Amino acid sequence: MSTNLSSGTRHLGPEPSPSSPPPEIVDALARAGSRLGPFSHGVIWFATIGSTNDVAARLADGGCAEGTLVSADHQTAGRGRQGRSWVSPPGAGLYVSLVLRPTREAAALLSLAAGLSISEGIEAATGLKTHVKWPNDVYVSSRKLAGILAEAGTSAGGLQHVVVGCGINVLPAAYPPEVAHRATSIESELGRPVDRGLVLAECLAALAVRYAALRTGRSAEVLDAWTRRAAPTFGRRVEWDAHGEAWSGRVEGIDADGALLVRTAAGVTRIVAGDVRWI
Ligand code: BTN
Repeated sequence: MSTNLSSGTRHLGPEPSPSSPPPEIVDALARAGSRLGPFSHGVIWFATIGSTNDVAARLADGGCAEGTLVSADHQTAGRGRQGRSWVSPPGAGLYVSLVLRPTREAAALLSLAAGLSISEGIEAATGLKTHVKWPNDVYVSSRKLAGILAEAGTSAGGLQHVVVGCGINVLPAAYPPEVAHRATSIESELGRPVDRGLVLAECLAALAVRYAALRTGRSAEVLDAWTRRAAPTFGRRVEWDAHGEAWSGRVEGIDADGALLVRTAAGVTRIVAGDVRWI
């Protein structure tokens, strides 16, 4: 199935009640208005939640509207890709999950489009220039600033929804000491406070544009923009695991399906899912 969509692992159990979103979030979303496209219905906010992706998936299973937005100030069981956790201390980051109901074609490039949109939105809101690393991480130099966990919900009829979970480090407190040497945040890069609401609103506005392109057969626009933002990663050596072995090569780009192209001694390899590590 599609590139880098996982099937999701739910943590079921009683859920806290939503609370009022902080004023900076409400104000920024209201100011962005119709630029938010499908994400203009407001946000379901939690002071503390296990994982916003779990709440969004439950709402999606219950038939919520496309564009439903779930966010929290703090996650106690934030998930990253490849079974990793996403440390989500109170107020230190943006922890947001979006429910989308894409066509199969749009779903294939959705996670790339989400990483691209986060990079674009951060720049629009703060001026900070970031780049993307395949499949959907956002980096400044060699330090990660944001990541995406896209989880598909399926039934016998096929793809029902995709929950796109975005974690953006806003304050340095968003990362634990053991990953501090390879993580960064918007405020540590800029050396000044930023408006968390504006960052969220601009990321959503960017995703509204990119998602509309995917839905209307303009995937090439998304791939071109992604490629421009990934340029600093081209030529870098990477390693990855496949068939129980570690492989390595040099990044060349992506193809029309969003697969990463890596040159190895044996020729160009397509990587369709998973992660690659810089070496
Ligand atoms: C990664 O880079 O490994 C992906 C990180 C995704 C984290 C976000 S935070 C909001 C949403 N809820 C989760 O539990 N995970 C995603």
